[in-house]
Amino acid sequence: MNFHVMTLFPEMIEQGMNTSITGRAIAKGLLSLETINIRDYSVTGNGRIDDYPYGGGAGMVMQAEPIYRAYEDLRSRITDDPTKDTEHLRVIYLTPQGRVFHQEMAQEMAREEHLIFLCGHYEGVDERVIEAIVTDQVSIGDYVLTGGELPAMVMMDAISRMVPGVLSNAESGQSESFSDHLLEYPQYSRPEIWRGQSVPSVLLSGHHGNVDRWRREQSLLRTQQNRPELLNNADLSKGDLAFLESIKQKNPEKVQ
Ligand code: ADE
Repeated sequence: MNFHVMTLFPEMIEQGMNTSITGRAIAKGLLSLETINIRDYSVTGNGRIDDYPYGGGAGMVMQAEPIYRAYEDLRSRITDDPTKDTEHLRVIYLTPQGRVFHQEMAQEMAREEHLIFLCGHYEGVDERVIEAIVTDQVSIGDYVLTGGELPAMVMMDAISRMVPGVLSNAESGQSESFSDHLLEYPQYSRPEIWRGQSVPSVLLSGHHGNVDRWRREQSLLRTQQNRPELLNNADLSKGDLAFLESIKQKNPEKVQ
């Protein structure tokens, strides 16, 4: 997986990505990260890359040409390698107007060899360059951030986890939130009693069947309480449905 990020703040991306698990994967060569400073492609020669919006209004707009030049340069570097399939390069523009990012998108994007991210700033990016180069417009949620760098890092982090070898066996546990449209069950570690609070006794019982059943029920309970809409797509057994029905009856006001 080769990430390429077009940004005005390359150091922000480098610092974030070269840390922790993604940093380890980059060091191992499982991922590569290239940042492209859009300012280096300024057409005025003085580093300026934004201008006033036509039609008036607050803020500045990132101009089309520096972004397009940065992209052309990047694309020619990638496609210079004749052994690589670069027909369908994905260019992802981070914007609150995009499709909302989710786990399946991360899984699907992790299969690409290259992903190019375009991080906007100010009031936005000239629409013409978006039309010219962008293949995917993606939002990370219904709130507005100051720029696309954090969303790009969020996406790269989630995608990296799906790249084979990036997580160790221990880290890539079978069950995790969203893997089957259910939230993850709660976890506990030592000590057995912490500030008067005990670990649920079933986890100390050594009875794997009971532990599995308890974890499944906790997943169902959390999903029902926090994200009930996820249950519509979950693969639920008769036992799961009976459990959900029983918690509805016990706690009708808490459960939707
Ligand atoms: N840029 C600003 N806010 C954003 C968001 N919520 N998602 C993606 N890109 C953004």
